[in-house]
Amino acid sequence: MRGRPPVLATRRFAAPVRERLASSFALVHHDDDAPMPRDQLLRAIDGMQGVMLTPADRVDDALLDAAGSRLEVVATISVGLDHIDVPATQRRGIRIAYTPDVLNRATAELAIAAMLAVLRRVAEGDRLIRTGRPWRLAPEFMLGRSASGLRFGCVGYGRIGRVAAHLACALGMEVVHCGRTFTGRPGEIRFDELIATSDVISIHVPLTPETRHLIGSDVLARMKPEAVLVNTSRGAVVDEQALAAAVRDGIIGGAALDVFEHEPEVEPGLLGLENVVLVPHLGSATRETRTAMGMMCVDALEAVLLGRGDATNFVTAAGS
Ligand code: DGY
Repeated sequence: MRGRPPVLATRRFAAPVRERLASSFALVHHDDDAPMPRDQLLRAIDGMQGVMLTPADRVDDALLDAAGSRLEVVATISVGLDHIDVPATQRRGIRIAYTPDVLNRATAELAIAAMLAVLRRVAEGDRLIRTGRPWRLAPEFMLGRSASGLRFGCVGYGRIGRVAAHLACALGMEVVHCGRTFTGRPGEIRFDELIATSDVISIHVPLTPETRHLIGSDVLARMKPEAVLVNTSRGAVVDEQALAAAVRDGIIGGAALDVFEHEPEVEPGLLGLENVVLVPHLGSATRETRTAMGMMCVDALEAVLLGRGDATNFVTAAGS
């Protein structure tokens, strides 16, 4: 009888996920909330047939070389693939599994929560109370803006963007959207028009060479002076320094960021701005969602390495 295939898990995953990994595979587990140091990862992956990892683990030629020829499947607990050199991995015949769809609602909810936190000054109010500054209810005290009636511009109208648009609609917002190409669907407008006319601009695009710094100083300058930028996609889609300057100088009204270009570092210019809400990459961070994402990874590992089940969450072509 063949032994259980060796699998490396690079992070502490939800308990049911860990248990399933341990029962199906000869598991090497970095049972920690912090990422594996790169040199440790390169050593630990040697001889593995499968690896389950997170967006903090870069999958490139160096890692694939270190893994050796036995590696058959890389399962990432993310829908984003920007940390994986997809062509290099696929060229070696290694399958890539990821976790689309299951996180749509959680991520869209977070985008809406962060948007409301800016519009209604929730984080700012929380800070005010905690610093012990005196306050009292007054007709003109800390007035924000109601989401209802505002235009919600969704940049990227894929799986998560569509759910965010649906939630925005339920708040009474007028939803417009744009995608990679113009298809004329209801509510679709061109990127330039969306940028110039939206009160809230919510980013839902993957990070690719085309979308890196998509939102830079030129685009920010064309937004409405009260516009709020929401980013729950990938940090590098936004030029953080340009954003900090735009908010500081009143070019736009505020921002809500769940993701950062150099996570966990945050552009220092953003830290002192009251009308910026900063969230530590919590888009998919609900117990149910993270467990479901983990289980999808195990499904894929079992399908490839044990011929078990009917997982379909594999990347079929670069980025899809
Ligand atoms: C993703 O799925 O890409 C998220 O950013 C990780 O939770």
